[in-house]
Amino acid sequence: MISLIVNDREVCTDVAPSTPLVDFLRINQRELGTKIGCREGDCGACTVLIGEMKKGALVYRSVTSCLMPIINVNGKHVVTIEGINLPEGLGAIQEHFLEHGGTQCGFCTPGFLMALTGHAMGDAELNYYNAIASVDGNICRCTGYKSITNAIKAIVIDLKKRDRKNPIKWLVKENFLPEYFLKIEEKMAALPPSKIDDAGATLIVAGGTDLYVEEFNEMITADKIKTIAEREDLKGIKITGDLVTIGAATTVEEMRNSEMMGKVFPELERQSRLISSSHIRNMATVGGNIVNGAPIGDITVTMMAMDATLQIDNNGLKRDVKLKDFYSGYKTADIKEGEILEFISFELPNKDTKFSFEKVSKRTYLDIAVVNSAMRLKFKSDTIESATFVTGGVGATVLSLNKVCEFLKGQKISNDTFRKANEIAQSEISPRSRAEYKRLLVKTQLFGHMSKAAPKAISLEALV
Ligand SMILES: Cc1cc2nc3c(=O)[nH]c(=O)nc-3n(C[C@H](O)[C@H](O)[C@H](O)COP(=O)(O)OP(=O)(O)OC[C@H]3O[C@@H](n4cnc5c(N)ncnc54)[C@H](O)[C@@H]3O)c2cc1C
Ligand code: FES
Ligand code: FES
Repeated sequence: MISLIVNDREVCTDVAPSTPLVDFLRINQRELGTKIGCREGDCGACTVLIGEMKKGALVYRSVTSCLMPIINVNGKHVVTIEGINLPEGLGAIQEHFLEHGGTQCGFCTPGFLMALTGHAMGDAELNYYNAIASVDGNICRCTGYKSITNAIKAIVIDLKKRDRKNPIKWLVKENFLPEYFLKIEEKMAALPPSKIDDAGATLIVAGGTDLYVEEFNEMITADKIKTIAEREDLKGIKITGDLVTIGAATTVEEMRNSEMMGKVFPELERQSRLISSSHIRNMATVGGNIVNGAPIGDITVTMMAMDATLQIDNNGLKRDVKLKDFYSGYKTADIKEGEILEFISFELPNKDTKFSFEKVSKRTYLDIAVVNSAMRLKFKSDTIESATFVTGGVGATVLSLNKVCEFLKGQKISNDTFRKANEIAQSEISPRSRAEYKRLLVKTQLFGHMSKAAPKAISLEALV
């Protein structure tokens, strides 16, 4: 039995744990305001908010409910568009959408309103840039974005006065949320304990953002699944001595917002905005990206360039595998049924280490890479002591270009070094589709990495 709160009411259910949350809400709960557009995480029509206790505080995140197994909301608060309605009249966000003509057919509108409500309740600085970013996973097909962005501008002005210490109380007072939100913490604490039988389950689910897209039938017909999304021991990031360790169930958004990771990779916060959307990053895990083994996985590329080691658990027996040795073919990895990737660790970069990530996709946001790559260079003075260069999208798996790395050892960055490194890189890759274009992207991304590491030592002439 799974127990949760849907809007203002307690719900206990025996539906299969892999039931997509959107179907549970629409079919079992008759909350029909949550829409289904694509069922692939791409449109945001199914966006809802999930509230849970973290470090003693009730926090909310936006998710696409089409990719969320109901088991992952056990013990939590699920808020649908019906759940932000006031007893009378429109709420503040709804009012601004109406006033600025931010809705026509209305199909996308619940998703936009939920995403913006999540922003209003969240920790991020309440400014226009972040408010726009909060709807990066929402698509409108008829209104035209100008009226939506005008509504968002007005919402941001209202939110400037929000109380940081007690946002929910302020949002209730200012008609952003109905009053029942003030009692949710109490209600969550009073939920009956849930009983979940996952003994013998072999299908491991974390965020579900790959599984529900790629294995939809297997997911919805599964009697049992083992979720690791809620395993607290597999969440979080720690630095011990010179080792960074990331729990496999840490979400991409948690990693993006981690102060610790921000110190290690100053560009991470900005660059991770290029990974999927806020709603997907709020569910997608670091471990899921690696085990899924897509040849364009952004986290996989990043972690392989850091020469990461994976710790895998097989019923208590632990083994370590280097990520660069993990894949043997397209989506074929060194992990057996029932094994769980627990931790990903890599050496803490120091001041002599330069790390860079590049991604080119058909559109800037909410798209997978055509080619992505990452490079780590360790310098002694201006000489490269060791290098890793990893590319995605140019082979059956994410590739570590070892010959380039060998060549770079002992070199100084210059136009000639770049030209030679590119020649070697081109011989190591074998893109099948759009080969010429992808080869050009590898060349320009390699240039990007090297010029970020030593901007004065290399010039655009090297590309000609
Ligand atoms: C709209 C959309 C946009 C996307 N954009 C991007 C993008 O820009 N860049 C990108 O890289 N990816 C993108 N993805 C892919 C996806 O979000 C990521 O790969 C994500 O990190 C997968 O994590 P998850 O927790 O959701 O994995 P799940 O779907 O839960 O699992 C994926 C696979 O890994 C296995 N698994 C998960 N965790 C473990 C574990 N700890 N141990 C053992 N097995 C495990 C599962 O059994 C499954 O086989 C996108 C997906 C969607 C739907
Ligand atoms: S239905 Fe499109 S994101 Fe869920
Ligand atoms: S109002 Fe019609 S899709 Fe946005």
